[in-house]
Amino acid sequence: MDRSDYTLDDGVTYLNNGSFGPSPRKVQEERKSWIDRLERQPMQFLTRDMEPALKDAMIPLANLVGTASTNITFVDNATFGMNVVAQTVRLSSDDEVLLTDHEYGAVMRVWRDKCKETGAKFVVQRLPDPLTSSDELVAEFLKGVTERTKLIVISHVTSATAAILPVKEICHAARRMKIPVCIDGPHAIGMIPVNLDEIDCDFYCASCHKWISAPFGTGLLYVAPRWQHRMKPAIISWGGSVSGQEPSWQDEFNWIGTRDLSGFLAIPEAIRCLEEHGWERFRNETHQLAQYGSERICELTGLEPLIEDHAVWNGSMITLPIPGLVQTGEQHGRRDPLQVALWKNYQIEIPIYTWKKRRFLRISCHTYNTLGDVDHLLNALEESFVTSHESV
Ligand SMILES: Cc1ncc(COP(=O)(O)O)c(C=O)c1O
Repeated sequence: MDRSDYTLDDGVTYLNNGSFGPSPRKVQEERKSWIDRLERQPMQFLTRDMEPALKDAMIPLANLVGTASTNITFVDNATFGMNVVAQTVRLSSDDEVLLTDHEYGAVMRVWRDKCKETGAKFVVQRLPDPLTSSDELVAEFLKGVTERTKLIVISHVTSATAAILPVKEICHAARRMKIPVCIDGPHAIGMIPVNLDEIDCDFYCASCHKWISAPFGTGLLYVAPRWQHRMKPAIISWGGSVSGQEPSWQDEFNWIGTRDLSGFLAIPEAIRCLEEHGWERFRNETHQLAQYGSERICELTGLEPLIEDHAVWNGSMITLPIPGLVQTGEQHGRRDPLQVALWKNYQIEIPIYTWKKRRFLRISCHTYNTLGDVDHLLNALEESFVTSHESV
């Protein structure tokens, strides 16, 4: 696959798959064909065809993430899944929830709010800086565990720092201590091999509209069999099968009132497109492109990379420090001036943000990206840094 398989606007250099990944034309067409089917006979589709179609669509996704299709359900996105978990896990004022300091802002908010509501303690454990050894990371993170820890929440691939975390080792250690783990994995599925049965977490929340290029508004929630009978739906509806199938915990999530399910049903086509391209090829090509960009950006800025060994800690997305003033009082939706300038002057979409009082840029590469895109970014950065130095 290459850019011609997508419908990105001409002239746009899109280096932000990590936030929002466009889907190939074939996936968009597949989605439309499901919408057409619904429009031709809504009763047939919603009350008879929908549930078997959802069941079929879960199989390739479950295979991709290494578990049985009975252990996953479709949700709109990782945020939705995380909220379901927060609704399900019971906390009291004696409990603690442990997270890393690299967690996504909205996830922090879900758990901070839940802790506030229940009186539980919200514990953020710092990871080593820089990230050098996986063993050291696990040991350092687990120092945050106490006899009160009721849940661990950790990213598989972090958002701000784009680091692949050793979640399997953390889950296995947590299992020995009987602490459930919820993994926030929207960047991992597709970008790196994921085997949920081997990881053996309790919950895994992910979005399919990032690295597997499925339609927007598609995600998955994995629930370990030990939790399935305890899941609380985010939205209360009928709670049973609409076409009279055997009851399942997934019923609470398949039918949450009448809605458009075409995105979920197009997930298998998204997986097929990347499978045809070759998963290994996709992962290698996109990692190499991100790696090329990161080396050149470090040469340009003269700054030490956040993570030294990108081959170990990164997939198709790398975060790099950049010079310049950090934004104070940064809010969601308020953009760094360089990010705004790159878009306005060069039509480059790339996130630039402040994390721990330092300024970073995150480069994401997918099948539609080329060396030309990265070179265009490098030229734009070079010109922008020169301009900003002149104006200081
Ligand atoms: C680590 C992480 N978790 C959760 C999310 C939320 O994903 P979504 O907006 O698809 O729910 C993101 C989004 O970028 C993320 O990077």
